[in-house]
Amino acid sequence: MKIPPRLARECLSAHDFEVLARKRLPAPLFGFVAGGSEDQHARAGNRQSFHRYAFVPRVLRDVSQIAQDVTLFGRSYRSPFGVAPMGGVALTSYEGDLALASGAAHAGIPMVVSGAALTPLEVIQAQAPGAWFQAYLSSDQQANCALVDRVGKAGYETLIVTVDTAVSANRENNRRSGYTTPLRPDVALTWQVLTHPRWLFGTLGKTLLNSGAPRYRNLPAGNGTRAFSSAAAGLFGRRAAFDWEDLAGIRRHWPGNLVIKGVLSVEDVVLAREHGVDGVIVSNHGGRQLDSAVAPLTVLPDIVAAVPELTVMIDSGFRRGTDVLKALALGAKLVLIGRPFNYAAAVGGAAGVAHLAALLRDEIARDMALLGESRVESLHPGVLRDTGVWPQIGSARRGKSATLVPTYR
Ligand SMILES: Cc1cc2nc3c(=O)[nH]c(=O)nc-3n(C[C@H](O)[C@H](O)[C@H](O)COP(=O)(O)O)c2cc1C
Repeated sequence: MKIPPRLARECLSAHDFEVLARKRLPAPLFGFVAGGSEDQHARAGNRQSFHRYAFVPRVLRDVSQIAQDVTLFGRSYRSPFGVAPMGGVALTSYEGDLALASGAAHAGIPMVVSGAALTPLEVIQAQAPGAWFQAYLSSDQQANCALVDRVGKAGYETLIVTVDTAVSANRENNRRSGYTTPLRPDVALTWQVLTHPRWLFGTLGKTLLNSGAPRYRNLPAGNGTRAFSSAAAGLFGRRAAFDWEDLAGIRRHWPGNLVIKGVLSVEDVVLAREHGVDGVIVSNHGGRQLDSAVAPLTVLPDIVAAVPELTVMIDSGFRRGTDVLKALALGAKLVLIGRPFNYAAAVGGAAGVAHLAALLRDEIARDMALLGESRVESLHPGVLRDTGVWPQIGSARRGKSATLVPTYR
């Protein structure tokens, strides 16, 4: 896949995609992707949690051959990270869901299709066979089962049920920046759209021209509803009654791999095992749901110890090869990465996604060699020193320089 020269020149790490995406996207849209909930403590804590662990490298070992491939649910992947499910990616990049899927397939890593994606799940699986599907399920089991049947029929083997969204989060930064459902077009929003012509013509215009207004396609109910319409506002609020019993019903209905995403407590992963799930994703939703939720990395060791037979995966705040290696050393089998892949698709489409995956892959290979480890499977907690330094969570800044609260208005 040919990487555009500007991306190759300017994007040297996952962080760099954010800088370019911030320029390309209207501020409300960038703020929707970048932000977290309320005071952004959970979002900030995710990044800080990596400082708790430092590496203790070994030397004079043969690290000329580095193996970073992993096997999950019987499938092999070239690297121990994948693309987290993200709704609305088709708003930040043209055919964004397909860009993520193709870029990930090119890199040989798993990609999770979001239940809030604006592209039908069948189209994505056809373009990138092997993608996983994440569902937002409701308390209507009949509708849930119909969606699950559709997912199976489309050829998905792994179903992820997100469980940390009982109600919609308080993302007040979205409201401040003008990202609202229903959308309230005003002078400030119009100005943002007009002053971002590459997004206006390259993403919005092309989408409207080729596929019409963006619509939700993969929910248990309400498919076809236009994003940002007043009807869409009600689509995400019907999950509060979904409970373990409903999950047991899904387990009985779905013969494939079943994973729950958004767990942080040992008690819940034990319950997950009792309810027959195959894997869990330890996650605080990138700090976008309960603010001040614990950083996943800090609870990972207890969770791995409690359910060693489950496939334990993790996300929230991972940006570097060293971040990924820390989670693997603490027992995770796979790391999912969200926002950076969204930015990569926004600035470079599938090639941007493939470029970011290649950068992370190179970082992991180099970091493993410097750590003195040649196989990801042999990473263990002994390669880390727990410095005892717990995340220091500062309060969110408001104003010009904060990515946390977009500068729009
Ligand atoms: C723009 C955006 C949309 C998201 N949409 C979903 C979603 O539809 N389903 C879901 O389970 N998680 C969703 N997430 C959460 C991600 O799957 C993941 O947990 C989180 O982004 C990981 O943190 P990171 O962005 O710091 O890597 C979304 C995250 C972002 C940034």
